Order: sequence, then structure tokens, then C-alpha cells
Amino acid sequence: MFNEKFSAPAPMTAAPDDVEPANERRYGHGVLHVRGGKPLTGRLRVRGAKNTLPKNMVAALLTDGDTRIHNVSQVRDVTIMAEMFQAMGGRVDNDEANATLHIHPNGLHALDIADARRYNGLSRIPILLCGPMLHRFGQAFIPSLGGCNIGDRSINFHLDALSKMGAKLSSDASGTTLSAPKGLRGAKIHLDYPSVGATEQVILSAVLARGETELVGAAVEPEIMDLICQLQKMGAIITVDTDRVIRIEGVRALKGCQHIALPDRLESASWACAALATNGRIEVEGARQLEMMAFLNVFRRAGGGFDVTDSGITFYRESPELHPVNFETQPHPGFMTDWQQPMVTALTQAHGVSVLHETVYEGRLGYTEQLNRMGARIQVQRDCIGTRCRFGRLNHLHSALIVGPTPLKGTKITIPDLRAGFSYVIAALCASGESEVHNIALINRGYDDFSEKMSALGADFALDGVI
Ligand code: EPU
Repeated sequence: MFNEKFSAPAPMTAAPDDVEPANERRYGHGVLHVRGGKPLTGRLRVRGAKNTLPKNMVAALLTDGDTRIHNVSQVRDVTIMAEMFQAMGGRVDNDEANATLHIHPNGLHALDIADARRYNGLSRIPILLCGPMLHRFGQAFIPSLGGCNIGDRSINFHLDALSKMGAKLSSDASGTTLSAPKGLRGAKIHLDYPSVGATEQVILSAVLARGETELVGAAVEPEIMDLICQLQKMGAIITVDTDRVIRIEGVRALKGCQHIALPDRLESASWACAALATNGRIEVEGARQLEMMAFLNVFRRAGGGFDVTDSGITFYRESPELHPVNFETQPHPGFMTDWQQPMVTALTQAHGVSVLHETVYEGRLGYTEQLNRMGARIQVQRDCIGTRCRFGRLNHLHSALIVGPTPLKGTKITIPDLRAGFSYVIAALCASGESEVHNIALINRGYDDFSEKMSALGADFALDGVI
């Protein structure tokens, strides 16, 4: 059974006619069987980021010109956005062999509501279509959002900003309806928290709005800077000032461009943690130091080593024993919330008590329960351990003590969300015996060529079903 390759992903079939979230039917479940205890060693390539690529695609809707995106990974949001564009009458050529997407947006029509509802609950990206759709058609219907269940994930900042820019909106359980018959106008917008999505929303809506937009309290993640670079090539005028201020000067029209997608720093860090936890050595082509500095500091404190070259970073365990660390997730330039789960799993093997304070999402530690069933000793707490954050006073379980080292034992576990999913794969790779990782299809949301990469690193695994 082991060392077989994953089956090919299921062909994308037409969505059912109902409006239920259709993840399972469309993408399959899949069970990953892993026999642990083998270090992961080898080389892999990380391509365009899951949290950038679909936004590069949304930006392409702001012009009638063609956009070509290189270094594309075949993650699920890319497929979903390509399908949505096609439903609007556009053409997307996905040249997988050359990792290139060619988007032809001319002749688009508004997505009709029945078509839009087919995407209910599948992705968070459609909310970013508001600005481009309002500019093109004066109206938009955005299906209800999907994405990982890791907290409230409200979109109030998005809707407030659009409303300040002149959009009229109404929302119900099936989605949000917007109109802006007179077009969008620049506005002064303040975000109470540096939300990645809301910052992107404002930028994508303001580039073609009348007048200037001043965004205060913006997120400044590298993925956002990458989107700004693409828009600048398209003809936008955007200034990133100090202290989280971004100014956007509306222009009349944008043109198509070529863009090389930013490599995925979340995927790079995930494989780095797999090397650390299994005592392996993984060369990640495409990993970049600049966007990973906060991660690399924690990785080094935990006993990890890394060598940076022109083409990527090689990750390994430097000290024979892993060390406990104290860390806190924060918006950029802090330690990313999406890095914590693989790191926590690696820290179950450290000698001593590690401390994590999750300050970005209030519900992102539930995955630790199943790690405890495998033998980990992770205790989650409601108090802020570290600086005070907005979750402490609301009584959310958002801090964790990780007591190590604890041997892990293979068992049956079910993936609750994407990053927790990768952390379960790491746990299974470290565990004695065999693990069954259910819901492995979720991995495809953020890890391109997952099975090929696992094989290349010598993992002992097999798949039942399809992803
Ligand atoms: N928030 C609000 N109101 C809003 C928007 C956000 O209160 O209108 C809050 C959220 O509830 C959360 C915090 O602000 O507590 C941060 O949310 P943010 O808007 O920054 O997250 P996002 O844009 O929905 C993106 C990534 C996430 C990543 C976060 C933080 C995409 C598609 N998703 O989400 O990625 O964790 O930024 O960096 O870009 C992942 O890759 O696994 C993932 C969850």
C-alpha cells in the first residue's frame, strides 16, 4: 500500500444546481495513510502563493487587456476563480506545463445570481470581486464566502469601505448584492485592524475610483505589496507610506500586464517545519528569506538551521535536540498566523515548554485536540500569554502551552482546516506506526503537487480516494 502515488485529482465536474456548499462533492474527501518515523529529505519547488495568485487574477478584471501570470501553482482558489471568470464570459488559458495563466477579460458580462450561487461557501476570494465588478458593470452579486473555519471572519471592514466609496449594499445568507450606478469615488478609510482582505478590497476598488483614497491602518503583507506591484505595472498610482498608510490615486483605465507570482512563504515554512520535526533536510526552491524573516528567527530558536542561496532555502535540524520557544502570531512583519500550526507540531518534539499566543484568529487552536490524541501535551488557554490582544477580554481559547518532547502515536485524525491539515501530516510523519489522515482533500487548497512533493522527499504514504 505504501509508496504508491496519489491518484490524480478528480476532474472538475459541473456544480450541482442547488446552492449548498459543495466542497466534498466537487473535490472529494480522500484519506492519507502515513507510516511515520522517516526523515523527509530532498528537494522541491514552491510556486506562486495561494494568498496572492487568485488576487492577481482578480486584478486582471480591472482591464480589458490580457494578463499573463507566471509561476502559477494549481491550488483550488485558482481553479475556482478561473471557473468564475469563464461563467462571466471571459477566457482563462491555464498552461499547467509552463505554470502560466493567460487571462482574456474582454467581453465579460456580470455574473448572474444563479451562477454566482454555485460558488457559495467555496472560497473567500469572491469578496474581492466587488470593486472590479462595480467598475465594470455598476453592480455585483457576491456569493456567501467559504474559507477555513478559524474564527468569526467578518467582512464588516470590506463593506464599510465600499459603502464609504459610494456602493449601496445589502447582504443575506446567500451573499451580498452591491450597486454603484455612479461609479466608486475615493474616500478616507480607517481599518480598526490591519486586515489583509480589507486592505486588498480598498486597493482593488480605489485604483479606478474618482479621486484619491487614503487608507489608514492598512495591512502590509508581502502578498499585498505584490498585488500593488502588479497594479502599478497596469498603470495604477499607489503610494505606500510609513505607519500603515496607503494612498491610491484613481486613474481612468488600466492595461494588461505580465506578472510573476510571489512564491508561497506559507508553503515554504510548512516544509521547513516538516524537516525540523522529522529531523530531515529539505531544499525549498523558491523560498525567500526577506518574506520569511519572522519565521526564520523562531525556526532558529527552536533548533532549526537554514542555508539561503540564490534559488531558495535549505531547512534542517541544526541542534540534536529541539528547543522550546515562546512566540506570538501577528500581522506582517510579525510571525504569521498561518505558520503556527506546523511549528506547534514540530515543538511537540522540543525539550521543554513552548508558549504560543495566537492574536490574529480567535478560533485557530481547536486542531490541537487531535494532536493530543496522538500523544502531544498541548494545553490551550483563554488568557493572553504575551502582549494583551483583542481576544483575551472576549474569553477565547487562543494561547497554548506545548509540553515536549512527547512521542506521537499513529491514529485516525480528521483535518479541520488547511494549515491544521499540514500540521497533521507532519504529526503523522513523526509518529510511530500508521496514521489515517481524513479529509486530505483540504490540502489541495494551499499545497500544490502535494503528493509529488511527499514522494520526492521519501515519505512513506498512500492515498485512498482522490483529492
Ligand atoms: N477581520 C474583521 N473584519 C473584516 C476583515 C477581517 O474583523 O472585515 C478580522 C478577522 O476576523 C481576523 C483578522 O481581521 O480576525 C484578520 O483577517 P484578514 O482579513 O487579515 O484575513 P483574510 O484576508 O480573510 C488572509 C489569508 C489568510 C491569512 C490572513 C492573515 C487569503 C485568501 N487568506 O485572510 O490565509 O491567515 O490573511 O494573514 O489571503 C490560509 O492561508 O490558511 C489563510 C487562512
